[in-house]
Amino acid sequence: MAKTAKLVIEGQTYDLPVVTGSQGEMALDISTLRKRTGLITLDPGYANTGSCESSITFMNGEKGILRYRGIPIEQLAENSTFVETAYLLINAELPTRKELTRFSIMLNDHSLVHEDMLAFFENFPKRAHPMGILSSMVNSLRAFYPELPERTDEEEINITFARLLSKVRTLAAMSYKMSLGHKVVYPSHKMSYCANFLNMMFDSPVRPYKLDKDLVKALEVFWILHADHEQNCSTAAVRLVGSARVNLFAAISAGISALWGPLHGGANQAVLEMLQGIYDNGGDPAPFIRKAKDKKDPFRLMGFGHSVYKTYDPRARIMEKICKKILKKQKRKDPLLDIAKKLEEVALKDPYFVDHSLYPNVDFYSGIVMRAIGIPLDMFTVMFAIGRLPGWISQWKESIGDPKWKLHRPRQIYIGSKERNFVPIEDRG
Ligand code: SDX
Repeated sequence: MAKTAKLVIEGQTYDLPVVTGSQGEMALDISTLRKRTGLITLDPGYANTGSCESSITFMNGEKGILRYRGIPIEQLAENSTFVETAYLLINAELPTRKELTRFSIMLNDHSLVHEDMLAFFENFPKRAHPMGILSSMVNSLRAFYPELPERTDEEEINITFARLLSKVRTLAAMSYKMSLGHKVVYPSHKMSYCANFLNMMFDSPVRPYKLDKDLVKALEVFWILHADHEQNCSTAAVRLVGSARVNLFAAISAGISALWGPLHGGANQAVLEMLQGIYDNGGDPAPFIRKAKDKKDPFRLMGFGHSVYKTYDPRARIMEKICKKILKKQKRKDPLLDIAKKLEEVALKDPYFVDHSLYPNVDFYSGIVMRAIGIPLDMFTVMFAIGRLPGWISQWKESIGDPKWKLHRPRQIYIGSKERNFVPIEDRG
């Protein structure tokens, strides 16, 4: 028997259908609310509003659960590769060996970018932030790869997926090399997705880059952990822009722009800057904790808190393990890891953080992992974007195939001036 909820407005009772998901989550279906009652709902930031039904990622914020297509993130981080996880998110099933080989060959075939794009890089200011470069370059990919009418929609979309997944990695490495004034390193058909990226970033004619399998694995896991996260801010941006039926490159470019924000993907860079600030101030986190708790101070403890997780972000635990493993392998101590541990200890004992359910999120340790791999600070969020790409693609694909698809157009409650007349400038005092 379908569940309903009763809504009483000015003595009139309305039955609203209740939707139950496959894991028992429930939602009020308010899709006919305005038509039937004249009312809308108000939910700044949409913290209580579902925008869609999705089969891609399941999160339980209270229990710290994250699964891609039903598979726990811990098992994927342990056993899978980023390319295989990308295939799972986009196609809903893990690939057979044959399917994975075909997918890898497609990514390899589309890993180069048009040589004319080099000119774009040459004209960005050297200090341009890589996220701004990436968002513009992804948007401009449409100019180089317009839809070809002779291709079926299916072929067109799958090639666009491969182009995005493969070229975004090449564009990111190119922007780094160009920012240094170094020769661009091209992708190699002999390397895996992650190894290729590291080689494109760090290989040089005078100092050949020696691949370290532990660093490749660390990058593999970093990107798996970032691959999707249901309706987060940047994914919501991709779905919203995509709902206008714009091309995928433009929708993904919107996602990259949203991810840039320090409250979202930009937090990994902000965490490192915060840890460095604590280190430079003698290593005592107390002043930063005080600032984070001060309502009058806009400062927030970067890498802490989450819109959904009200317990430990399961990705943060895995990221911390990678941190320790890499630093041990490199026989390196990173003072910022010690600071992070100390900050975590102090915060998790502080009633403010406990009462607000603020725990480390994915960004808290990821910056230290990036630093250990050798990624420059201003590229941390670019690394998040490359990781999130399969998620954005799978969510976009699901949205355009959704029978309930609608152009995203939220309503509002107007609180401005009542009707009034135009006043000619000479009468405005
Ligand atoms: C990502 O959505 C996703 O899934 C995102 C992501 C993904 O994979 O896509 O997981 C990636 O973006 C992780 C989050 C990275 N951002 C940060 O680390 C920035 C610091 N964190 C915060 O800004 C904050 O925690 C948010 C924005 C992440 C979440 O905030 P909430 O919980 O949605 O709601 P809120 O901002 O209203 O905070 C609730 C209360 C407030 O206090 P009160 O006014 O109720 O007294 O908690 C406080 C906030 O002031 N608070 C913090 C805090 N985070 C929340 N106080 C101090 N430090 C913090 N970090």
